[in-house]
Amino acid sequence: MSSAKRRMRPSPVSIAGLGAYLPEKVVTNDDLAATLDTSDEWIRSRTGIAQRHYAAPEQATSDLAIAAGKAALADAGLATDDVAAILVATTTPDHAVPGTAPLVAAALGTEVAALDVNAACSGFLYGLRMGTALAIAEDAPVLLIGAETMTRIVDPTDRNVAILFGDGAGAVVLVPDAAGSMGPFVLGADGRDPSMLWTETGGTRTPVSSAVLEARTHYMTMRGGDVYRNAVTRMTAAGLEVLEAAGRTSADVDLFIGHQANLRILDAVGQRLGIDAAHTHVTVDQHGNTSGASVPLALADARDRGRLAPGDTVLLTAFGAGLTWGACLLTWDPTGAGSAGSGGGRVDRRARPAVSEVQQ
Ligand code: COA
Repeated sequence: MSSAKRRMRPSPVSIAGLGAYLPEKVVTNDDLAATLDTSDEWIRSRTGIAQRHYAAPEQATSDLAIAAGKAALADAGLATDDVAAILVATTTPDHAVPGTAPLVAAALGTEVAALDVNAACSGFLYGLRMGTALAIAEDAPVLLIGAETMTRIVDPTDRNVAILFGDGAGAVVLVPDAAGSMGPFVLGADGRDPSMLWTETGGTRTPVSSAVLEARTHYMTMRGGDVYRNAVTRMTAAGLEVLEAAGRTSADVDLFIGHQANLRILDAVGQRLGIDAAHTHVTVDQHGNTSGASVPLALADARDRGRLAPGDTVLLTAFGAGLTWGACLLTWDPTGAGSAGSGGGRVDRRARPAVSEVQQ
């Protein structure tokens, strides 16, 4: 099955603000091992994950999204009224109906267009493509938020998935900018085998019933090995495709931010793309897999740690259920006018801890 080749040009759009929200509660591997047949050593060696954040019982995805969205607008120095649209990339909406984005918009005090993007863990990359197009079409800023409460769809008694996921939200403000360069983008989907990573029931195919609840099939399940292989293959191919379309090579990439699912997946993709670990940003050790929130959370973390300098070329890749995948090149703060975050613009390309160090 092939995807149509399209002309891929970067768009004159840049990121004017970043926001992040992580719930207060931190759950370590040892915390999980207290109730699950697993161990800190197993989780660290297979995934690189040391801890993740859990939303409080009263928090839903919109609560996380609102906090990250407000932070991004403040970072950009913009008011809600300046924004032409709000996109929320999520696969864990507050409700099946309505979408989460209108709830976020209402909390931010606006009636502009607001809609959800559900491409699972690739949702932020898909939203970035849509938000970029909207910012140009409307000639106005667009607020894009990736927000997830993954712990609500994960069976806490299933060690195969419970150890992987965390909750959080990250947001960007996209602005039309003649000096900006957003793209090229590569996005793709293959829905032939959705059971590789899915919630089998609870939707319109098989609505919730007492039988469903008893079988616990409303929780997410996954064939880990298949997901792993596809994640590496698809993110590598998408990354190579955007580099080729841009006439660039991996040597031009100042910072690589892949979907933070698993440190081994990030390492494998980085190696295949020819990107040194020193140019790869990792947050999966601290956040776990936050699905559609992982890339904007990692971007905000990189900026706050001073790992992004004006004019830097950033490569983003993502992969998720569907299957869905994507990659994008962007120029960070093209004119040097953007906020430097708490890192103060200090650029530090130190190599991140190796898996062995993460394992302590
Ligand atoms: N603790 C201890 N043992 C566990 C475990 C846990 N949390 N989870 C699974 N196991 C067991 C399995 O039951 C299996 O046991 P068996 O061989 O007796 O049947 C065994 O560990 C599998 O081990 P292994 O083959 O070494 O695991 P792995 O190296 O394939 O790692 C994953 C498993 C899930 C970490 C890995 O496949 C993965 O990361 N896949 C991608 C997941 C992902 O990123 N999903 C989201 C994508 S957006």
